[in-house]
Amino acid sequence: MRRLEGRVAIVTGGARGQGASHAERLAREGAAVVSVDVLDEAGEATAARLRDDGLDVTYRHLDVADPDGWRAIVDGCARLDVLVNNAGIIHVAPLAEERLEDWNRLLAVNATGTLLGMQAAIPAMRAAGGGSIINVASVFGVTGSEGYIAYTASKAAIIAMTKTAALEHAADGIRVNAICPGGVSTPMNEREPEGGVVPLTPLGHVLGFRALPMGFFATLAAMVVVYLVLIEFGKRLFYAHERAEVPPHAPKPGRHLRRRASYFSTASRDRSPGPGDATR
Ligand SMILES: NC(=O)c1ccc[n+]([C@@H]2O[C@H](COP(=O)([O-])OP(=O)(O)OC[C@H]3O[C@@H](n4cnc5c(N)ncnc54)[C@H](O)[C@@H]3O)[C@@H](O)[C@H]2O)c1
Repeated sequence: MRRLEGRVAIVTGGARGQGASHAERLAREGAAVVSVDVLDEAGEATAARLRDDGLDVTYRHLDVADPDGWRAIVDGCARLDVLVNNAGIIHVAPLAEERLEDWNRLLAVNATGTLLGMQAAIPAMRAAGGGSIINVASVFGVTGSEGYIAYTASKAAIIAMTKTAALEHAADGIRVNAICPGGVSTPMNEREPEGGVVPLTPLGHVLGFRALPMGFFATLAAMVVVYLVLIEFGKRLFYAHERAEVPPHAPKPGRHLRRRASYFSTASRDRSPGPGDATR
């Protein structure tokens, strides 16, 4: 049996580029995929090509910045298990030259579109007993990049929203992860300098994924979840050091560390403000 048999997935920006690939991959795993985009002709053509290949993909028009549109798409799904918030736009403008209308439109699509997608999807996922949201950020959201003030801000916002949403909805059985692609040759970046692709690897993908211990964490999704846990855990340890709560002969990392983690997480709840607060 395929992994997503009987599941329903929405992919935004599914008309072309990476969104079309996400739609195809999910459908090959057995999902019924609803591909949404503003490029109706390309969206219909992509969905028709995938259907000709035996896959369950339908296309619907949606501007991801439109909350009413989101409600209509989710209401039209029998159930919802997976949302890929992939739609995005880009423009090149350094900080000093960024125009407010360009900034507002980019943030509306990339950041607000992601927020609205999650808000629309979560009640339906709760009703389905859980689900998975994948937000497409960018390595630029982590590193910043000269000439992309609005785009980098939008992708950093997606990463931050992903962490918060993951924490808020873990108890609902809803996993929220972000992926940060490096340069990928798609219509988005074909007009940019060097096609927007920085050749970090032969395929232009970010090296960070290769440097992380994928073998141990087993899957990409698990890797991202663990990354969030590690950040949280590091913060707790930092607080503990601030308050001199680490015993002088603290055990070495290992199974003891896990026990201490739960201790710190309780201890840090009612603490008085410390130097770490300024950095949050
Ligand atoms: N190509 C890269 O190098 C790269 C790198 C990192 C991250 N990304 C991200 O990957 C995602 C996919 O980009 P891509 O490379 O496939 O580019 P693309 O331009 O080929 O695809 C983006 C899709 O989003 C759709 N879209 C734009 N505005 C929309 C809106 N308001 N509502 C609905 N759909 C809308 C477009 O019509 C298009 O089909 C984007 O979020 C992008 O920021 C791309």
